[in-house]
Amino acid sequence: MSAERVLLVIGGGIAAYKCLDLIRRLREQGVAVRCVLTAAAKQLVSPLAVAALSGEKVFDELFSLTDEAEMGHIRLSREADLVVVAPATADLLAKMANGLADDLASTLLLATDKPVLVAPAMNPHMWAHPATRRNVERLRADGVAILGPAEGDTACGEVGAGRMVEPAELLRAILARLRPGPRPLQGLRALVTSGPTHEPIDPVRFVANRSSGRQGHAIAAALARAGAEVMLVSGPVTIPDPGGVRTVHVETAREMAEACLAALPVDLAVCAAAVADWRPETVPAQKIKKTPGGSPPTVRLVENPDILASLARHPTARPRLVVGFAAETGDLEAEARAKRAKKGCDWILANDVSEGTGVFGGTRNRILLITGEGPAEPWPELAKEAVAEKLVARIAEFFARRAS
Ligand code: C5P
Repeated sequence: MSAERVLLVIGGGIAAYKCLDLIRRLREQGVAVRCVLTAAAKQLVSPLAVAALSGEKVFDELFSLTDEAEMGHIRLSREADLVVVAPATADLLAKMANGLADDLASTLLLATDKPVLVAPAMNPHMWAHPATRRNVERLRADGVAILGPAEGDTACGEVGAGRMVEPAELLRAILARLRPGPRPLQGLRALVTSGPTHEPIDPVRFVANRSSGRQGHAIAAALARAGAEVMLVSGPVTIPDPGGVRTVHVETAREMAEACLAALPVDLAVCAAAVADWRPETVPAQKIKKTPGGSPPTVRLVENPDILASLARHPTARPRLVVGFAAETGDLEAEARAKRAKKGCDWILANDVSEGTGVFGGTRNRILLITGEGPAEPWPELAKEAVAEKLVARIAEFFARRAS
């Protein structure tokens, strides 16, 4: 069997050094890697090191007589199973989104007929800039898979979304595309809620919570990888939309409920959003003003719709499997069992969000799964992505049992 081939376009970001590790890991997996460096990338990593690690000639010039004679940019763009751009700088993304072709990297990206995976890396403000947002949306619409960026410290000293994902994650994403595993949820429709909701007090203030959306987004991505057609309804979050998922952005619980009900019928629903239980009863059209000597205003709250319960108790379009979360600070199992009964859902993933656990807003989670059959199942502490994989495996078992 001939090895899978990756064409790796290395852009000019500090994160380019991570590509050396990525090349090594890909080769360890038996994947052949051919590399193209942009002019800026050559300032950051040595073409010699890239050539030595990849075991192949490095390409960097559009009009090199020898390269064009031996290997034209068209052939270069076609002889791979997957094209990976890492790090994808703001400039490279902008060129790709607009179809510019003024160097070897951008030309082959325009000429390729192969799937393209990009791993952006840039300053958080550059990532958040409306121009980059537009370019990323366009690329997604063009079918380009976008992985990351991750949040954290960036090389420029600013903190936020902008770090290139780590080589291990990039490797996983590349292998998942080159060697697609079984897609046990193929043909099923899934709905996932994620993130907090914002409930306005007046036009500028709102009530919210610390949910980051990491767990719900990871579940949506894992369901999509397993072949499900996924609709993600997300409250306001700072993390990127997961690839391969249709994401609807909402702000309030009522908007989230409306989007969820509009998504029906679905085969399964996972409600991971931290929906505000209450909202201010009335929202004045003007900002509430502080009056000198006046007393602070009273905000009267009214109950929000319970999305999980309304899906689980839907009279005509109840999903075959409805999964909820129970974020608790007391007796985890008892509270979660009571919640499962009250809401009418099938499974509950209970997690302890007491102070100090770092679950809310953090990257790890410790789950107690309650399915209604047998005893509660404690899972070890795992990264939220691993919790998502484990849950999706359970969901696949559930539907396999139903089918047999
Ligand atoms: O009642 P509580 O908020 O603790 O329940 C948590 C579960 O219910 C989560 O799955 C959450 O997504 C869901 N929920 C909901 N709509 C609400 C409140 C909670 O879907 N209004």
